Amino acid sequence: MAIPQSPHTPDGPGGRLRDARLFVTQAVQTFRATGALVPSGPALAHALNRFVDERPDPTAPIAILEAGSGTGPVSRAIAAHMRPGDTLDLVDPNPRFAEHLRGLLGTDPDLSAVADRVTVHESLVTDLGTDRRFDVIVSGLPFANFTAEEVQEILDYYFAVLRPGGHLSFFGYLYTKQVKAIIAPRADYLRQVRSGWVIEDWVRRYGIGRERVLANIPPAWIFHLRKPEEGTES
Ligand SMILES: C[S@@+](CC[C@H](N)C(=O)[O-])C[C@H]1O[C@@H](n2cnc3c(N)ncnc32)[C@H](O)[C@@H]1O
Repeated sequence: MAIPQSPHTPDGPGGRLRDARLFVTQAVQTFRATGALVPSGPALAHALNRFVDERPDPTAPIAILEAGSGTGPVSRAIAAHMRPGDTLDLVDPNPRFAEHLRGLLGTDPDLSAVADRVTVHESLVTDLGTDRRFDVIVSGLPFANFTAEEVQEILDYYFAVLRPGGHLSFFGYLYTKQVKAIIAPRADYLRQVRSGWVIEDWVRRYGIGRERVLANIPPAWIFHLRKPEEGTES
């Protein structure tokens, strides 16, 4: 079968293969920021959409932020779950990924159907500013590669722009700490332990659910957090 040649054609094996190729190239060049070797699979993308589907008011449109969109596997799933009036902001500082995402707005069936309500930002998520508010944040950032201070800054930012009662879903990969304990330099292992403590602290305070997604390469965990309504935090 001939593989379509358009740089952004997403459908079928040709498009998915090109997405994966771009992701792998960028992962090799910028592993600390990319944090994975292959894009997320459909099971993980679907599970990250939980609070795009479960809404307090099913008739009210919501504002969705996806941080670290990469080649867009989760963005496409979000687009497929969006309802009339919903908006979606996609953020990735990698220029190759941002260009790819802009292309998908014209070619991917799900993203093009909502393209007038999707904005692509080529920036760090924390540079988006605090004047906007979101009901749902889906984060693909590779926290396991970040320092504790960076993770704290990003989680603080998410909760600054999340509406009270809003949800944050983020993921990481199972067993990275155990693998690092064996093969990584000690300083890198200890950095991940410290950033893990920051995540545990947020999950302890705001966590409302955790999932394992074994049908992903590599297998992943997801944490779902909820920002308390104003005046209800203990
Ligand atoms: C593990 S990849 C996830 C990509 C995609 N969401 C997926 O599931 O396949 C992490 C992505 O986060 C982006 N990223 C890293 N640091 C970021 C930051 N501070 N703000 C926004 N995106 C960031 C990287 O460029 C990369 O595309």
